[in-house]
Amino acid sequence: MPAQRNKTEDDITSEVLQRFAETPDPRLRQIMLGLVKHLHAFVKEVELTEAEWFQAIEILTEAGRMCSDKRQELILFSDTLGVSMVVDLISHRKPDGATESTVFGPFHRLGAPELPAGGNIAHLDKTGTPTLVSGRVLDLDGKPIEGALLDVWQAQSSGLYDSQDANLDGLHMRGKFRTDAGGRFLVRTVRPVNYPIPSDGPVGRMLRATGRHPWRPAHIHFVVSADGYEPVTTHIFDRTDEYLGSDAVFAVKDSLICDFVRHESPTSEAAGFGISPPFLTADFDFHLKPATGRRASVLDAQQRLAALGAAG
Ligand code: BEZ
Ligand code: FE
Repeated sequence: MPAQRNKTEDDITSEVLQRFAETPDPRLRQIMLGLVKHLHAFVKEVELTEAEWFQAIEILTEAGRMCSDKRQELILFSDTLGVSMVVDLISHRKPDGATESTVFGPFHRLGAPELPAGGNIAHLDKTGTPTLVSGRVLDLDGKPIEGALLDVWQAQSSGLYDSQDANLDGLHMRGKFRTDAGGRFLVRTVRPVNYPIPSDGPVGRMLRATGRHPWRPAHIHFVVSADGYEPVTTHIFDRTDEYLGSDAVFAVKDSLICDFVRHESPTSEAAGFGISPPFLTADFDFHLKPATGRRASVLDAQQRLAALGAAG
């Protein structure tokens, strides 16, 4: 093709598209063509100035520099722009009885200890209200799945994840639990609290400049997996939380909202763990669907991302 000169606003886009048109991998070709088309249209629609373009590069550079094993500013951008949830929603279009997924978020860490049923993930948290989260992992017919793995993580009652807490060195509020023959699991923790997402970087500046709040409703994170089933990355949310309708990362789905029931009198189960009132219980069943290669690769990608952080 002859070199093009005297480009106009209109023909630059078609020249760039042509340059990607021979991409051998059809999926990569589709993504690159769509990306160029929409990026150019965006720049033209808002008439991006050179100063704004430089500012965008600065922001992305700063976000990249902030990423470490303790901080993932790029996921935070994706989450607060709603992109993570668009990817989630188009990946799980039809409700099929399986537990709905939601964002992975930036605070998962590798290496959580495997704990027995009732193991306490909040052993260092002295201010939160003790909480027992129980439930089952079932298939779509309601049959219990034995040996399913629940990877659980949560913010402390201070609202900080372990990796954000300067007073903590190791892992806290994290554990892996296996289901028993009845598909049952039991996690001891403290009541989840609402908390603001990290606001000391470019994402925080974006939220302030656009008049948005940084709060997430109280939740507990789970990745639930079992051999032969698609893993699900999800949360359970506290039904009473004031931010359910305005989550900073758009991640609430009705089916994931759960009652955290307050107990003012002892129960034998709680007493068995040395828990005296007041305490809370929450009960939530996870439903997994049979495996397809696609979701397995999602889990792989999450592990790679977490490993990237762990190495940083
Ligand atoms: C979280 O729940 O840990 C989270 C998710 C998305 C952005 C920030 C935090
Ligand atoms: Fe969280």
